[in-house]
Amino acid sequence: MKVLILGATGKMGGGMAKALKDSPHQLYALSRDPTSAKAEVLKSNGVVVFKGDFDDRESLDRALSVGIDSVFFTALPDLQGGDNDLRQTKNIIAAAKAAGVKQLIYGSLSYPGTKEGFKTVHDSLEPTNWVKLYFNRKLALDQLVRDSGVQYWTIIRPPSFIQNHVLPEIVSFIYPDLPEKHQFKTTFDHNIPQWYADGSDAGKFAAAAVNNPEDLHTKEVRFGVEALTAQEVVDKLSKASGKPIALYQWPEEELKQALMTNPFHITCEIISKMGFDPEIGTAENYGVKLTSISECLENNKAGTWLAT
Ligand SMILES: NC(=O)c1ccc[n+]([C@@H]2O[C@H](COP(=O)([O-])OP(=O)(O)OC[C@H]3O[C@@H](n4cnc5c(N)ncnc54)[C@H](OP(=O)(O)O)[C@@H]3O)[C@@H](O)[C@H]2O)c1
Repeated sequence: MKVLILGATGKMGGGMAKALKDSPHQLYALSRDPTSAKAEVLKSNGVVVFKGDFDDRESLDRALSVGIDSVFFTALPDLQGGDNDLRQTKNIIAAAKAAGVKQLIYGSLSYPGTKEGFKTVHDSLEPTNWVKLYFNRKLALDQLVRDSGVQYWTIIRPPSFIQNHVLPEIVSFIYPDLPEKHQFKTTFDHNIPQWYADGSDAGKFAAAAVNNPEDLHTKEVRFGVEALTAQEVVDKLSKASGKPIALYQWPEEELKQALMTNPFHITCEIISKMGFDPEIGTAENYGVKLTSISECLENNKAGTWLAT
C-alpha cells in the first residue's frame, strides 16, 4: 500500500512513520519544509517527502497523484479561535476523495471527562465561549471524517500528551514556570486524575489501521497509558529531570486573574469540571504496546529542560 502521512514531522504522524518503517508499505509525507531536520530523518528512513501545505490544494493533489491508498492527517487548532483546522481538513478530505484514496485515518483527541460530564459542561457554556468553540470545531472535524464517504475511516483519540510538559515550543507557551522556576502551575483540579499518553503512540494505532483497514473501519480508538493527579505528574517530572518540582498552590487573586486571561488555564479548569472517565480504552485490543509516561519522558529528554 502507498501511505501518505500528513504531519509526519509531528508527534502523531512521526510515531506512525516509525511504526511502519519496516513494513512493506511505501511511505510518503508532506511538509512545509522538506529540508528540516525532522524531514531529513524521514527521508533517511525511506519516506518520500513532498513540499506542501494543507492550505495549498495543488500541493496536496501533487502528493496524492502517486496513487495513494491510505492517508493519515491531523490538523492543528488555531489557538486564536480561527477555523484553519476546519478549512484544512475540508481541503485534505476533498483532495483525498478526488484522488480515489480508500482509507482516511484522522488523529483527533479524546474528549475530556465522562460522556455526561462533557455534555453537561459543554451545554452550559455560552455560544461564544472560547473552549466551547474549540470543542465545537473538534466535533465538526470528527463528523467530516465520518461523513467523508471513503471506503474505510478510523479516528484516533489520544488524551493529553505528556510531551506538553517537556517540548520547548509547548512548555514556553503553557508551562513557562516548569523550566524556569521548577513549578507545575496547573488549573486542572489537583485531586482529579487526567489521562496522559506519549503523543507518538497515536501513530501506532494509525499504523494498525493501515494494516487492518476493515477491522478498524468506523472505529474511534480512545486510549491513554496512565491517569495521573497533578502531584503524580510532578513526581514523574522530578524523577525524569532530577530537579525538585513543586506543585504550585495558586493564591486566590492570581488564580482569578489566570482564569480570566489565560486561554490554557481557562480550558484546564473547564475540563476539570467534566470529571474523569476511568474507562478511556485499552490498547491491547489493537495489538499496540503503549509507552509508559516515565519511558516517554526519558525518550524526550535530549534538548529539553529535563536535561539542562
Ligand atoms: N497536545 C496534546 O496534548 C494533544 C492531545 C490530543 C490530541 N492533540 C491533537 O494533536 C494534533 C497535533 O498533532 P501532533 O501533536 O502530532 O502535531 P505536532 O507535533 O504539533 O506537529 C504538527 C505537524 O503538522 C504539520 N503541519 C502543521 N500545519 C501544517 C500545514 N499548514 N501544512 C502542512 N503541514 C502542516 C507539521 O508539518 P511541518 O511543520 O513539517 O510542515 C507537523 O508535522 C492537534 O489536532 C491536537 O488537537 C493534542
